[in-house]
Amino acid sequence: MMHKEYKRYLITSALPYANGPIHIGHLAGVYIPADIYVRYLRLRGRKVCFVGGSDEHGVPITIKARQLGITPQDIVDKYHVQIKESFSRLGITFDIYSRTTSKIHYKTASDFFKKLYNEGKFLEKENEQYFDPQANVFLADRYITGTCPRCGHKGAYGDQCEKCGSTLSPEELIEPRSSISGSIPEKRKTKHWYLPLDRYESWLRKWILEDHKEWKPNVYGQCKSWLDNGLQPRAVSRDLDWGVPVPVEGGEGKVLYVWFDAPIGYISNTIELFPDTWEEWWKDENTKMVHFIGKDNIVFHCIVFPCMLKAHGGYILPENVPANEFLNLEGEKISTSRNWAVWLHEYLEELPGKEDVLRYTLCSTMPETKDNDFTWKDFQARNNNELVAILGNFVNRAVVLTHKYFNGCVPATSTRTDYDKEIMGLIPGTAATLEDHLEHYRFRDALKEAMNLARLGNKYLADTEPWKVAKTDMERVGTILNFSLQLCARLTIALDPFLPFTTEKLRNILNIPAAMPWKDFDREALLQEGHQLNQPVLLFDKIDDATIETQIEKLKKTETEKKDVATALPECTIDNFEKMDIRVATVLQAERVPKTEKLLKLKIDTGLDQRVIVSGIAQYYSPEEMTGRQICILANLAPRTIRGIVSQGMILMAKEPGGKMRVISPEEGITNGAIIG
Ligand code: 2FM
Ligand code: ZN
Repeated sequence: MMHKEYKRYLITSALPYANGPIHIGHLAGVYIPADIYVRYLRLRGRKVCFVGGSDEHGVPITIKARQLGITPQDIVDKYHVQIKESFSRLGITFDIYSRTTSKIHYKTASDFFKKLYNEGKFLEKENEQYFDPQANVFLADRYITGTCPRCGHKGAYGDQCEKCGSTLSPEELIEPRSSISGSIPEKRKTKHWYLPLDRYESWLRKWILEDHKEWKPNVYGQCKSWLDNGLQPRAVSRDLDWGVPVPVEGGEGKVLYVWFDAPIGYISNTIELFPDTWEEWWKDENTKMVHFIGKDNIVFHCIVFPCMLKAHGGYILPENVPANEFLNLEGEKISTSRNWAVWLHEYLEELPGKEDVLRYTLCSTMPETKDNDFTWKDFQARNNNELVAILGNFVNRAVVLTHKYFNGCVPATSTRTDYDKEIMGLIPGTAATLEDHLEHYRFRDALKEAMNLARLGNKYLADTEPWKVAKTDMERVGTILNFSLQLCARLTIALDPFLPFTTEKLRNILNIPAAMPWKDFDREALLQEGHQLNQPVLLFDKIDDATIETQIEKLKKTETEKKDVATALPECTIDNFEKMDIRVATVLQAERVPKTEKLLKLKIDTGLDQRVIVSGIAQYYSPEEMTGRQICILANLAPRTIRGIVSQGMILMAKEPGGKMRVISPEEGITNGAIIG
């Protein structure tokens, strides 16, 4: 199929939330394919703008800030820098990586909203929403938790159940609770602005279902299902104090919904990069816009954002949205909260110099059409059996032999054998095949095709055996090595979008000063006769079992530690805490409660009085171990009768992951009755 040649290419990649680091799922889903595509376009001499940046709004960021006792700004400042740096170290070549807390973004998003508002494109509705009377705030999205009506999971959020993946609205939750105070929310009236997606339904049906039948089946299918189920108006504002303020009358105390402002971030970041010419990128039909995203973002990029752009008018729409499915890790879903992930910033520290090995593995296992799995063993095998054994080995043999027989100068060619012609005949098709794969977002196939050149080179050397021929026919050796070196040079082009660090190394070995353009791909002699090569260095090292075991152990260990730690409780107030009379006491006597296995009867001195507490610690402590020991107690717990003994208070214990109970002992010599708080 012929492609329309566009004047410029605007490539966006999902703006990650700046509330945590990047992991391999993000990379395989979005950033690796986007970067490969962009590097390919640049090699072809196309005019490209690759937009990235941080998504710095949204409820999860404010929740994390509350939990840590810092501001949302502190959080996004930290992660914006960390994420930006780790992308750059992996060779992701954004033309701009800005943030949705930038001044330009606030103005752009605000103006966008105002235009739609002024032109009557929104519905304004007042309705009842959950409100936390204790914290005095409306409970947007994740600020409300409860039981999922679909699967019964107890910790579902107001916008989504992470267990079964259902999209929810707060009203659907069973036994809703505020995640700020833990209190039962009440309903209060509040006004919001809605984008009436239903009004755009027939336009969307034509634009996607008829005009974009070429979109990937997973993307097309999801869009069709949304459209077939009927679209509803979507609120584009929230009662929150973190975000772009709603810039119209009645908007006080409200902000734009994060999914309204975030995609506008693509525009803002382009404006920041090209303050004078940004409109040609966004408003000229000769621009091809492509959104790289993960499957959880499909509805926002294929339905909501296009409706926003259409409602605004004057903007182009995405030509394609090649969303990927999800990457699993060692057979399980990647989970940030369970720490079941390979984090990019840690990988870069722990496996330095192996950036391209990660790029290679993630491209090879990219979840293009269905969810896929990353395993450390597969990572090792791809490095050792493919990068080392095929690519590294081929280049090394060609260059080492050239140094050995021709002082590192590209030798002259003489007569070509039929076998040479047969092998060489396979090459001209490669560029076209690669182009076809890359133009259609088939990155795995493209990488395979590029690697086939190295496979071909290996086979050629194995079949022609120049090290043996060297005993009798140096002219023939020259021909073999010349051809092999031309293939190495061609690999610097073919692999450049995928393995940019390696192709740079390879260019240094081959003494090619600058990257060769794509159009040179089919040129027969990329290196002239007599061209001097540099000394070879190994492109890849073997990765040993110990390195892989360390990574697997680390994964399992952190996950176990995290999994067993009890989940956090909802926030409480200082008033809640101050109701508790917690103080230091000393155990005077201890004895087992007869006919029980778990209970000890402790006589203690609380500083206030002497009293009895019955405690379930006999499995962990003998009466002797407890006698004379200082402990911490909750003194004003209502008395309870246990096995006929009145227990007046409770001993504070730490419950270890796994269930073991440990007594908390204060520093020695604290006066009985000293208050803890
Ligand atoms: O899913 C996410 O991580 C979102 N922060 C993606 C936003 S993409 C764009 F709209 F900004
Ligand atoms: Zn559920």
